[in-house]
Amino acid sequence: MSRTVLITGATGTVSTALIEALEGADAGLRALVRDESRAGGLSERGVEVFAGDLDDARSLPPAFEGVRDVWLLTPNGPRAPENSMNAVWAARQAGVERVVRLSVVGAAHDAPNRSGRLHALSDQELERWGMRWTILRPHWFMQNLLNEAGDIAATGTFSLNLAAARIGMIDVRDIAECAARVLLDDPDRHHGETYTLTGPRSLTFDEVAEQLGLALGRSVTYLPVGDDAKRKTLLGYGVPVWIVDMLEEYAQAYASGWGDFTTDTVAGLLGRPPRDIADFARDHAAAFTSAFTSAGGGK
Ligand SMILES: NC(=O)c1ccc[n+]([C@@H]2O[C@H](COP(=O)([O-])OP(=O)(O)OC[C@H]3O[C@@H](n4cnc5c(N)ncnc54)[C@H](OP(=O)(O)O)[C@@H]3O)[C@@H](O)[C@H]2O)c1
Repeated sequence: MSRTVLITGATGTVSTALIEALEGADAGLRALVRDESRAGGLSERGVEVFAGDLDDARSLPPAFEGVRDVWLLTPNGPRAPENSMNAVWAARQAGVERVVRLSVVGAAHDAPNRSGRLHALSDQELERWGMRWTILRPHWFMQNLLNEAGDIAATGTFSLNLAAARIGMIDVRDIAECAARVLLDDPDRHHGETYTLTGPRSLTFDEVAEQLGLALGRSVTYLPVGDDAKRKTLLGYGVPVWIVDMLEEYAQAYASGWGDFTTDTVAGLLGRPPRDIADFARDHAAAFTSAFTSAGGGK
């Protein structure tokens, strides 16, 4: 009998890619969503949809009933450890066998950013619960560049407070395929493993701009800006202060070289190298054009 996998964060970037990666696999897919009216696309793909809110422990038990595996993704924010705790508790109460958790690169109690420190709390909690577990710690998502699509389409430039940082950035599709691999393998195979997932090379944003330019057939330029300028821009877009502070902490860490590394873990799990920035740029070129961004695909 196929196993039922509960996917949290099912409308977001990583879990959407995971659902795609699991399509056709011998697994029953169930999605936890806050707003069922926004989950029509999931039902059409044969995913069973359950309403639940990770902020509200009482809303969770029905979604976890009869589930063998949980893909646990918590949104960024100060309540992330509570969200993870609520999910892990619901999983334990329901007799879930395995939890595969999305953490973050460099998660640790002494990480230089709040997201890394909060994820470390939840990673440690999961490790101690007695269920089988695997933790994925991906590096900076190439898909974060889609936040710059509007500026790139309009001006051929993008501005980040990342100075000359080098980052071993990863395509989200590879994170999703690694998660699918783990979820489809026997639960014992990856139990107790923490996998740090990166792309194939560590890149500066000048190099990223060059690759975007090649894919788009136009010049793209990276314009480094200071923390204050970036903060003002993000606050202007309505990004919550907590997130702006978190992003600034990451930017400072990356600018000091914290993210300048790669691992061979993706290749080890998938038997092929991870996607390169050139692949990301080619496959997402339309998103960086004005036709797409003016239709609502940009920032
Ligand atoms: N960006 C990076 O470079 C990076 C790198 C490594 C790790 N990460 C980690 O990746 C995670 C974010 O993944 P993502 O980018 O795929 O997220 P995302 O696109 O922002 O999506 C977040 C998902 O969580 C759901 N959600 C939000 N609040 C919820 C709640 N209270 N209860 C239930 N569901 C809720 C959202 O559903 P709605 O549709 O209801 O809003 C959405 O499906 C974070 O844990 C972050 O630390 C990010």
